[in-house]
Amino acid sequence: MTQEELNIRSQFSILYEKIYSKPLIYLDNGATTQKPKRVLDAMQRVYEHLNSNVHRGVHYLSNQCTDLLEEARRVVARHLNAREDAEIIFTRGTTESINLLAFSFGETFCKSGDEIIVTELEHHSNIVPWQMLCQRKGMTLRVIPITDDGELKIEELDNLINDKTKLISLAHVSNVMGTVNPVKEVVAKAHAKNIPVMVDGAQSAPHMSIDVQDLDCDFLVFSGHKVYAPTGSGVLYGKREYLDQMVPYHGGGEMIDKVSFSGTTYNVLPFKFEAGTPDYVATIGLAEAIRFVDEIGFEFIEKHEQHLLQYTLSQLQDHYGVRIIGNPKRRSGVVSFLLGKAHPYDVGMILDKMGVAVRTGHHCAQPLMERLGISGTVRASFGVYNSEEDVDTFIRAVRQAAIMLS
Ligand code: ALA
Repeated sequence: MTQEELNIRSQFSILYEKIYSKPLIYLDNGATTQKPKRVLDAMQRVYEHLNSNVHRGVHYLSNQCTDLLEEARRVVARHLNAREDAEIIFTRGTTESINLLAFSFGETFCKSGDEIIVTELEHHSNIVPWQMLCQRKGMTLRVIPITDDGELKIEELDNLINDKTKLISLAHVSNVMGTVNPVKEVVAKAHAKNIPVMVDGAQSAPHMSIDVQDLDCDFLVFSGHKVYAPTGSGVLYGKREYLDQMVPYHGGGEMIDKVSFSGTTYNVLPFKFEAGTPDYVATIGLAEAIRFVDEIGFEFIEKHEQHLLQYTLSQLQDHYGVRIIGNPKRRSGVVSFLLGKAHPYDVGMILDKMGVAVRTGHHCAQPLMERLGISGTVRASFGVYNSEEDVDTFIRAVRQAAIMLS
């Protein structure tokens, strides 16, 4: 099947917008993706016909919304191949999922002197919550270094792991260079020493099939809004053996079993970690987005995005002054580059005037920028709705920017 046969683009009305009278070319999917009509319709249907708070009412509307929310949990559990639905915790996104884990895992399993391992490739969401835990507890954050090509120096892991290591937390895919990390290899090394692994799927969930049992990771997080779902939806997957033991993160309604002033007991999984009214409408939208990607299938998505990636790389390399950042062997649909000595912001502004949306700057990965010795990049990142024509326009815009800035 082709993109046209699957009618993918036509489901995203925003892709037909004009920016400064020019057709929008949206290549900022690493930051957020656009939403297909079916996701917007699913949410609108709730607000127009079903809206009521979940898990709190005996009445019809509340039951309907509760059923849709719990159906969303089944959809996500099946999508990730989790062992059970209760291992899926709904959050507001990757950042909240990692903060939840850093707090609840840290309070339960960590003490002064312990260590957490991350990598040099991480975005701030997978650094700062661990730094905060380390500060709180008097622990140390260790970092797996990368090569100049942007790949993990995986052999360094053997030197970093020791008796004090409590968790390894790493990106599945780099948001800057698209590097696909060898997660299974990391998990194997970690599990050999009984250390759990958290996988940050923020940049992999939109682009590849994820099977948490096959990866054998202990935790995995992702954001809905990068997978064609609404903002405010997100997931923390965790193995029951850890989640059951972990103390709650936020306190409030729904996460309790019994509350009294002499003491409170907590609800079972997954509700123990879902205090307060959840963003059930966004989560119902997330389920529809997951159905959308699953119906297309990751075989198609990966092949299509890899084609766009290779096409872009071949075209960009021909341009005077383009320096592509990173050269990982396995790369997802992300290209970061610099244009001569031009500031990424200036390149981004010129591209914008031609209707091309890319991200510029440090991409919330300042330590990686420091490692690479640059202040930022221009980043094009693909989604399933992008086309070769989008790349052609993008390349023409880069050429124009090269002329204007030389
Ligand atoms: N982490 C997101 C990005 O890479 C926001 O753009």
